[in-house]
Parts: sequence; structure tokens; C-alpha cells
Amino acid sequence: MEKFYFIITYGCQMNVHESEKIAGILRKRGYVSCNAEGEADIIVFNTCCIRENAENHAYGNIGALKKLKKAKPGLIIAVGGCMTQQPGAAEKLRKKFPFVDIVFGTHNLEELGDLLDKKQAGKKAVVEIAEGKTVVKENDADISYRTSYPNAWVNIMYGCNNFCSYCIVPYVRGRERSRKPENILAEVNALLDEGYKEITLLGQNVNSYGNDTGGEMSFPALLAEICKRKDKFRLRFMTSNPKDFGEELIRVVAENEQICKLIHLPVQAGSDRILKLMNRKYTSGEYLKKVELLRKYIPNCQLTTDLMVGFPTETEEDFQDTLDLVRKADFSTAFTFVYSPRSGTVAAGMDGQISDEVKKDRIMRLVGLVNSQTREKSSVYLGKTTEILCEDFDSKKNCYLGRDEYGRMGYFTSSENKIGQFVTLKITDASGVSLYGEEVKGNTEEE
Ligand code: 5AD
Ligand code: SF4
Repeated sequence: MEKFYFIITYGCQMNVHESEKIAGILRKRGYVSCNAEGEADIIVFNTCCIRENAENHAYGNIGALKKLKKAKPGLIIAVGGCMTQQPGAAEKLRKKFPFVDIVFGTHNLEELGDLLDKKQAGKKAVVEIAEGKTVVKENDADISYRTSYPNAWVNIMYGCNNFCSYCIVPYVRGRERSRKPENILAEVNALLDEGYKEITLLGQNVNSYGNDTGGEMSFPALLAEICKRKDKFRLRFMTSNPKDFGEELIRVVAENEQICKLIHLPVQAGSDRILKLMNRKYTSGEYLKKVELLRKYIPNCQLTTDLMVGFPTETEEDFQDTLDLVRKADFSTAFTFVYSPRSGTVAAGMDGQISDEVKKDRIMRLVGLVNSQTREKSSVYLGKTTEILCEDFDSKKNCYLGRDEYGRMGYFTSSENKIGQFVTLKITDASGVSLYGEEVKGNTEEE
């Protein structure tokens, strides 16, 4: 009889990709995917803890499985990912939800198969949380079961050394560990050979790639190496820390047409005092200089960012500095967050925590500004053409969809299956965040 798995993912791209690895491991054990929790023999939660609400979502959804587990005692419930890696989290989870069978930390993902065997061999719950000491395996083969064709994620490094004062990531993901360039190149080349058309390189701070392995190959050199392949594909990367974002990288992005001219450069705040308290190691002036350099080399470059309001001691004046920076940097769009204290981080212990009321007021004003800028930028696409990589068919809207180089979603109708193909669209409607267009045949040039 077939056995089914169902994976629920929270958090960032890194987690989305790691869920593909979890899927790969489960398939090796004979499981196949299913469409609903109720059909599953194993349910895996791949959790996030970057903000409190990410944790609350996971807690709520795990709790909601109590009934299902009662009705189906053979069901295995596993919880992994960043949330479980926090000190005391595994115990807390087990206490709150005794029906959880397996708890595994971020460093134990590859052991999930063995943990499953262990659970199936005995009655007791299996808890495996390694401390942040894992090394990257020499021949770290791609174990992922990918469902994101024509896009593929490739890890280039794990962990983070930066210790921004608000951030839990270094605690739950450990120190920076870079994969060997030859393993990354082999994985990327295999994916392109298989027909994948867009590769996104993942790391918490891609600009420090190789620093932990003696700088055998720098991040810009790695990008240039990948781009030696001349078939048509797109290359993206995330995330960059502005403090390490340099001219050499900008030059490589400018020189290689495969690299998308969309850079995600999280700034977090506009006030130098707050940036210092955040331990970001740059000022708003330095950030804007890097943006200027980027636009000098790549005039058509678009920029996105992450912004946070309500960091401890943030005054109205500090907040105004953030609004000011948003106006100056001309972001295409920004991901906006309310500061959420994370236990164990430096900022969580700071005096001057901001009230929910003030945080709410500031986030509303920030979102208002960001949205008005995004809308303004969007309307200029009307009548222009843009090239998208078709990635799916939306049966509700009855049309194909895909993203352009700048990450904008474009919709179009076609009588042929276009998934995995580059399609040039003439934009007929750009009123919302999505673009609607008509296919322009025999023209692959972008305007
Ligand atoms: N509270 C709110 N936002 C956070 N981020 C990271 N840590 C926190 C926190 N404690 C945001 C940052 C980061 C993005 C991934 O999440 O803006 O760039
Ligand atoms: Fe990703 Fe950070 Fe959330 Fe972990 S805690 S899933 S690294 S965003």
C-alpha cells in the first residue's frame, strides 16, 4: 500500500528548499506526496522562528492535528526547522504536544530517514537536536525532490556569523559553512542540463561565501564561473548584507547577462543610531553610496529591501529617517516587518522596547509609503514589453504565468503549454502588482 507524506513549510526560501530535501528523503523511504493532511501517513512541519507570529502559526497548526492523530494513531507527526533549534524548544514542544513523534533540529535534517526508522521501531518519541557544529559533507549530493520547475534553489552556504542584534538566525543555523565550489557547480550544471531555466543561489549572507574555507573561490568568482555556460538561463542570489556588498560583485552582475538585474539588499532602518544598535556595521549614507554605485554600473538595476520598525529605542525621528531612506533609495518594493523580540538575542534584552501601538502606527505609515512607490513604478510598464519565464498555469484565471527578470508576475493566455519557456509579453494592464500581457511572437528582446 502506498504511504503518503505532507510537508508544511514556514519561513524563507532556505526553508522552502530544505522542504524539497525532506521530500527527497521521504521518497527514498517509499513515501509519495498527497494533497491534504487527512490523507497523510507522515506530516512534517518545517518551522521558522524569525518573528513571534511565525512561531505562533506553527504552534497553532501543530495543535490542530491532535484530533487527526487520535483518529489515526499510526500517523507520524514530525517537527523540524529553525523553531526546534532554539534552547528548550524541543522540550516545550513535547510538553505542549505530546502527540508529536519526531523533533529534529536544523543540523539533523539529513538524518530524518534514520529518525523515522527509529520511531517506527519503537514507541517513544524521537528527539534529535544537534548543536551548531555540523560540517558540510564533502560530496554533498543533491537529495532534493524538486517541484519548482523551471526554477531551482541551490544552497551555497549555511549559517551566519553576523549576529545582528535582533536576529535569531545565527543561533538556530550556526556559523557560516560554505559548500565547495566544485559541488555547487556540479549541482547547477546538472540542473541546467535537466532543463531548469532559473537558478537561485541561497545563503544567509552570500557575500561572505568562501570566507570560512580560506577564500578558495569568492562569491563574485563563483557567479562568473556559473555564467561561463552560455545557454539561456537566469541566475539569482539571496541574501546580501550591505556591509559586504562590493564593487567586484556589482561588476560581475553588470557583465553577465544571465544574472538578473534585481538586487535584494536589506537595509532594515534609516537611522544611523538604530543601525548601530542593530549591529549592521554600515550607515545609511554608506548604504546609499552602494546603491549609487550599483546604479552607475547597472542603470536598469532594480532594488528591493527589508525594513523593520519598532526596534528598541526607535524614536519618531529615527522612524522618519527610515521613511527618508525609502524615498532616496527608490526601492521597487520592500518587505516590511514589525520588530519582534527573540529570546536570546541582544536586542530582546535592551531597554526601551516599543509599544505595540506605536509599532502598528509606524508599520502602517511605512507600508503606505512603500505601496505608493511600488504603484507608481508599476504603472510605467503599460504598453512596454518584458520577458517572463513561464512557470505555471493558473486554472482559475485560465492563463499562464511567470516572472520577469525583476520578479514581476506576468499573466497571459496561450493555446500551447508554455511552462519552462521564455515568453515576451506586451503589457496591456499594469494597474495592480501583477502585469497582464499578450505574447509577442518572434521577439525575445526586452524593452
Ligand atoms: N523581528 C522582526 N523582523 C526581523 N527580521 C529578522 N529578525 C527580525 C525580528 N526579530 C527581518 C529582517 C530580515 C528579514 C528576513 O526578517 O528584516 O532581513
Ligand atoms: Fe529562514 Fe530565518 Fe525563518 Fe530559519 S528563522 S526559516 S533561516 S527566516
